Amino acid sequence: MVAILDFGSQYTQLIARRVREAGVYCEIYRYDVPVAQLRRPNVKALILSGGPASVYGVDAPHASREVLELPLPILGICYGLQFLAHQLGGKVERAAEGEYGPAKVEVQRTTGVFSRFEKGEMLDVWMSHGDRLSELPAGFEPLGASASCEYCAIGNEASQIYGLQFHPEVVHTKRGKDILEGFLFDVVKLGRSWTPASIVDQAVAAVQEKVGPDARAVLGLSGGVDSSVAAVLCHRALGDRLTCIFVDNGLLREGEGEAVERMFGEHFRLNLIHVKAGERFLDALAGVSDPEQKRKIIGRVFIEVFEEEARKIPGASFLVQGTLYPDVIESVSFKGPSAVIKSHHNVGGLPERMQLGLVEPLRELFKDEVRAAGEALAMPREVLYRQPFPGPGLAVRCLGAVSAEKLRVLREADAIFEEEVRAAGLYEVLWQSFCVLLPVRTVGVMGDERTYDEVIALRAVHSTDGMTADWARLPYDLVGRVSARIINEVRGVNRVVLDVSSKPPSTIEWE
Ligand code: XMP
Repeated sequence: MVAILDFGSQYTQLIARRVREAGVYCEIYRYDVPVAQLRRPNVKALILSGGPASVYGVDAPHASREVLELPLPILGICYGLQFLAHQLGGKVERAAEGEYGPAKVEVQRTTGVFSRFEKGEMLDVWMSHGDRLSELPAGFEPLGASASCEYCAIGNEASQIYGLQFHPEVVHTKRGKDILEGFLFDVVKLGRSWTPASIVDQAVAAVQEKVGPDARAVLGLSGGVDSSVAAVLCHRALGDRLTCIFVDNGLLREGEGEAVERMFGEHFRLNLIHVKAGERFLDALAGVSDPEQKRKIIGRVFIEVFEEEARKIPGASFLVQGTLYPDVIESVSFKGPSAVIKSHHNVGGLPERMQLGLVEPLRELFKDEVRAAGEALAMPREVLYRQPFPGPGLAVRCLGAVSAEKLRVLREADAIFEEEVRAAGLYEVLWQSFCVLLPVRTVGVMGDERTYDEVIALRAVHSTDGMTADWARLPYDLVGRVSARIINEVRGVNRVVLDVSSKPPSTIEWE
């Protein structure tokens, strides 16, 4: 395992992703992790991330000096390079001009991180630094330089410590993969052991160890990627000792409840309880139009229903949750106490109330690894590459008070949009594409008749994590086809509009 020490870089998670893509398991730790944690025998190398500070600044994050004395190969990136050079007796100073963006680095020595290159090769790299190394620490030699940075890559072969002023983890550093692989495979001499099959094997073994030979577990299955992979994985580990509770809140898309039943009940043969609680949710939502109120009600009813069902399972002593690695990384990147923009619901409080142990089989995985594990479990693409769908479902896309009739309109329109987006080959290109039913009616004309009917908005966005999003420039003929079909085929709709707002300042969902 490679331990990555995070000094606050926006790219720390990217370093971890690149290392894992190379087939090597790694974990992220805060820069001030106790050294004892790094002394464990499974830690084979360290990577020190970049960060926004200056090593000589008063608040600069400093790892313990002992970290550099561990008998492990080390790669320092950007601030990581400056930190280790500064600690080992080199000199770091403010550069006359910072360097931000693309640069060319000439390979001077073909050892260590540059073992996969030719001498004199010019590398396209990505720089982002205000400080620079002006004097090498003893025992180090330069491996690469750019026009404005003499020590872009440095190394001490005897102690296997290397440093890069640029960022090999970003795509703009064209052969960053060869640099990282030079470190992982030629310096540290690791093997490519982190594969989808090994991810599955390890997760299965960990679940079996945690739950033991007799206990039972419950899992809330939504049909989304994370809970679906967690379910199939835990089923492999526990067989029928796993019960999946699928709370059908009546706010799902067309055919979704049946699809979940077919896929998980019939195909994967999970022990599945399909709780059809649509009426209960609709009753609780009757007449409520405030978005936060709606979300809170749905969250509360969901927990009530889930808990009632879970209590019926004799001997269930564990709850499975699909928590992913990005949610558990204790990085130094300061996120701050952000205001509640929209409340998300989950079964957070349940383990304590019901005295359940927690099983989190995806806790060490990034989203792409969850998908890879799903593929290794022979799960179909339509499950693994589904667009995200919010827990409160169509209720947050049916603006204002929700009713069965409004849900019918929204569901039919949404099915048409999805069908056309898929036919255009855009379903997996878009982060999300869906319909929203507006709380207004407008006048139209159909045949010779005046109509006064509903309005559907089309929402389609590009995003990488849902935190920011850009509205998708859908082809006009696709928009035209969807609009014509919705107005013709969905009873009660006479107008379709297109949402052209990005996040921020808008959000992806309308409520
Ligand atoms: P917003 O609307 O805040 O949404 O821009 C960002 C992403 O989060 C999804 N979303 C939710 N996901 N439970 C979820 O699991 C929720 O309550 C929820 N609300 C929004 C939304 O679909 C988008 O992908």
